[in-house]
Formats: sequence, structure tokens, C-alpha cells
Amino acid sequence: MSKRDFITTENYTKEEILDIVDLSLKIKACIKNNYYPPLLKNKTLGMIFQQSSTRTRVSFETAMTQLGGHAQYLAPGQIQLGGHETIEDTSRVLSRLVDILMARVERHHSVNDLATHATIPVINGMSDYNHPTQEMGDLCTMIEHLPEGKKLEDCKVSFIGDATQVCFSLGLVVTKMGMEFVHFGPKGFQLNDDHKAKLDAICKVSGGSYTVTDDEEAIVGSDFVYTDVWYGLYEAELSEEERMRTFYPKYQVDADMMNKAGKNAKFMHCLPASRGEEVTDEVIDGPASICFDEAENRLTSIRGLLVYLMNDFADKHPVDKAAQAKAKADLEVLLNTAL
Ligand code: CP
Repeated sequence: MSKRDFITTENYTKEEILDIVDLSLKIKACIKNNYYPPLLKNKTLGMIFQQSSTRTRVSFETAMTQLGGHAQYLAPGQIQLGGHETIEDTSRVLSRLVDILMARVERHHSVNDLATHATIPVINGMSDYNHPTQEMGDLCTMIEHLPEGKKLEDCKVSFIGDATQVCFSLGLVVTKMGMEFVHFGPKGFQLNDDHKAKLDAICKVSGGSYTVTDDEEAIVGSDFVYTDVWYGLYEAELSEEERMRTFYPKYQVDADMMNKAGKNAKFMHCLPASRGEEVTDEVIDGPASICFDEAENRLTSIRGLLVYLMNDFADKHPVDKAAQAKAKADLEVLLNTAL
């Protein structure tokens, strides 16, 4: 049986991504109207976490509950993965026991291996390479907060600081939508040549653009200013002293930086934040901050993504075109009940 995974948005077209966003926002509207469409009734999600999580874990579990399904938290030490059972056998067994899997992994190859051997859809809940479900929530948030009179492709998004997997992921989705992306970060902590080759390939198709620089002037005219923690990744993790020496004060998002970006620029952060490091309290708690809407939209977009994958709505590889058409029609009826 064919199935569609969600490991990286690189494997999805702009139209497919916007379909997932559209579905996510319709389901959100239903739930805001106190109608919980039972789109995942009797379905079970297995959630493998090799690392801690607040937003991702709670969003997946809440999404399953709200839509009539169930989620199982599969923590390190509680399942055999990483012990004496191989990823291949774990994938094959879980494919018989649940309907869909998500995994937050330390190394990207682990989620790829899970997807290769699973016969059910697998979602990447963050790896050392990327954070695609964060991208989907961020896109929902930018669409909800579009500057007046602007289309998505007219917007400029600047990421400040360390080239984390969230920075790269943001670059992927922003350029895929045809927007302008800036990474303003210190040399040694900027997007690398592999990242740039991938963004080049996307921009060629989408008409988007990107700049990687340590010159703050590049952020002038931004619609969205985004940052993430300065910790570095895993074995390259920085001490507090190293973080401050490398990034502070030039790369801290403070009121002066927001003014430089633009008087209507909105502030975004994937969270959790290290207040007083990459962002000041004044900015994260200020009127331009949309990072708590962004956190809520992790749930918004994960609901849409789960429904999309479970119903095989991806036009590229439908298992059964007739079943897909019926599922889409049933979905419209369910959603229109509340809208
Ligand atoms: N932004 C994000 O992924 O948060 P968690 O690590 O809490 O899931």
C-alpha cells in the first residue's frame, strides 16, 4: 500500500502545503464554534519522543482527542526502540498497532528509517535537520497576521541569530511560498552551503529569494521577525558564556531591532524562549508579539496535517482516487455543519 509521510516540506508542493493550511484553518473555525468534527474517529497516533517537548507533544495529543481519536506517548525507555529492537522491526510492528506515527528524534536518519519501514504515514516532529510541523504552524500564523493589503508572496521574513533547524525550516517554507527570507546571524552560525543549495532549488521554482548575512541592514522592511534559542545543536551545545559572547548584544531581538525591521513588523518565536538572551521581555510580551498565537497554531496545523495524511488527501499519490474524493466530500459536509 502506498502512503504519504511528512518528513520535510521539500517533498510537498506549495499548493499541497496551502491545502493543509486551508484545512487546518477550517477545522480551527469549527472548533472555535464549539463543533469538534470527528475526522479521526477510532484512529490511534503513536508518538515517539527521543527528546522533551511541550508544544509538539501536547498539540498532537490534543488534536487526536479533539477529532475523536487517541494518542499514545511512547517515551524513551518505555518502548524497545533504541534498545535491542531495530528501527525496522519497531516500524513494522507499530504499523500493525496504530494508524499513524510521529517521531521527535535526535538524528534525522532515525525518522527517515522509521518512514522507510512503516506502512503507515510517519510525521517528523523535529530532528537535527528540520522542524516541518513548526513550519506549518508558522505559516498559519503569518496568514492570520498578514499585513493589510499584502499577499503572502509580498512579505519579508527575517530570522535572527543561530542557524537552528527551526531557522532552516523557516527558510524552506518562506521561500517555497515565494516570500523573501533573510538569515541575519554571525559567521560560523549561519545557514551553510547545503542549506543554501536547498533554498536555491526552491527559489528557482517559487520565485522566492533569500539572503544570509551578518549585516543588520538586511532586516529593514521585514513583515515578520523570528528568532530561536542560541544553544547550538547537541554536541555543539554552547555554554551561557559562549552564547553571550557570540550573539549578544548584536543578535538580541530588542525594541531597537524591531524598530529597525519596520514599524508594523510582528515578532515570532517557536518557543521555548530564553528571555534576556535572544529576545527581551519588552518584545516577547509587547504588542508586536504573535508568538503565543504561533504556539496555538501548532495545534491548528497539526489537526489539519493529521486529517490530510489519514485521508490520503495528497493528490500526488492517492491510494484510491474514488475513496479520496468521497473522503473530501464527507469532510466538506462535516466542516460546513459548523461554518
Ligand atoms: N516549538 C517546539 O517544538 O516546542 P516543543 O519543543 O515544546 O515541542
